[in-house]
Amino acid sequence: MPSWITKPVSSLRGQYLPPGDKSISHRAVMLGAIASGTSQFSNFLPSDDCLRTVEAFRQMGVPIQLNGNDLRIEGVGFKGLKKPSCPLDMGNSGTGIRLLLGLLAGQLFEATLTGDASLSKRPMGRLTKPLREMGAFISGADDANFAPLQIKGASLKGIHFINEKRSAQVKSAILLAGLQAKGKTVIEESPRSRNHTEHMLTMMGAHLSVTAKQIVLKPAEKLKPLHFAIPGDISSAAFLIAAAALLPGSDLTVKEVGLNETRIGVLEILRLMGAGIEWQFKHHKGEEPAGDVRIRGAQLKSVVIEKEMIPKLIDELPVLMIACALAKGKSIVRDAAELRVKETDRIHAMVEGLNAIGGKAVATADGCVITGVSDFQGGKIKSYDDHRVVMSFAVAGLKSRVPIRIDETRSIETSYPAFFDDLTRLTGV
Ligand code: S3P
Repeated sequence: MPSWITKPVSSLRGQYLPPGDKSISHRAVMLGAIASGTSQFSNFLPSDDCLRTVEAFRQMGVPIQLNGNDLRIEGVGFKGLKKPSCPLDMGNSGTGIRLLLGLLAGQLFEATLTGDASLSKRPMGRLTKPLREMGAFISGADDANFAPLQIKGASLKGIHFINEKRSAQVKSAILLAGLQAKGKTVIEESPRSRNHTEHMLTMMGAHLSVTAKQIVLKPAEKLKPLHFAIPGDISSAAFLIAAAALLPGSDLTVKEVGLNETRIGVLEILRLMGAGIEWQFKHHKGEEPAGDVRIRGAQLKSVVIEKEMIPKLIDELPVLMIACALAKGKSIVRDAAELRVKETDRIHAMVEGLNAIGGKAVATADGCVITGVSDFQGGKIKSYDDHRVVMSFAVAGLKSRVPIRIDETRSIETSYPAFFDDLTRLTGV
């Protein structure tokens, strides 16, 4: 895909339906595959990441039909997965590879999991270590810290695990292994990371109890299939939400977006920064709260983003950094060292990019300090093939009279293939 060259706009107006949630789409495939019976989902996200997960399960013998955004899975139960005949290539997807490792930890066949150059650099020890403790055999470079990884499942035992990284991927992997283990699995975490796996397992009849700081899971014999409409992805909508928030005069309504308490930090922060943001819960999609968000733009003011807020907006930090760079005063992001091990080192990529277009940003070990400017000056951005870096700087370009050129934008296929179409429609340029 060619580079993207931005154009300035004064405001953003209208209604917008974001694409289906990526985290839930991955879980829909995996949990649907191990259910006993047929699961059906609408508004599935057919992005590159989620299609890798679909393909992996097809290779393990699960019948899956995908028609546009409608997904139908003939669940084969815990015992019905087949040994894949070739390595499972999870592409760019951390969620895909990590959750799949958890599931395969209890399957008595051998599989190899691979990914692209970015995924092969992301740390896996955070979950291969506890999965080995549960009994799985996993090997790979640096003591199973990096893909490609070979996994041979075993009969597992439950563990007591403290989710120090506050990672939903690690938590979900342990839960998927715990479903197949002997005895109970206890996971402690505070603050809570996104809880879609817990929601879906509860609907499936798993023996799961969740309190503020702890999850206790008992093994399951059988899981019921799922049927629900996947809500819109607030992490994808966040780019247009932030764009509207930082352009005074904007009035945007985002329809049918997921409003899970563990994911709405971006709304809370933009509201703190002075944007007019109202959200309304309308209904549950499955166990997921969803509704509409109305955003009215304003001159934003600086903010500190830290501590327990971080897991609620970890994927939205790149675009929030753009908002901070245009806010009055000095903003601080801290406690976000996890950004360094995402699809790329997002602290480095964002700080470098901001400074390249006339922003003022300094990186710290676990975040950055950003001094607001009134608009950007144009320039060239290196995206490091990270979808959220690309989309963040596309938003920055709306406030730059001189165009910003973003190299290699193909990575948006991983989470939001229609991003530029939606941006063009809503900005009218
Ligand atoms: C995800 C969890 C988060 C998030 C990622 C999706 C998930 O990662 O950044 O985009 O679907 O569970 P971590 O678990 O590494 O925090």
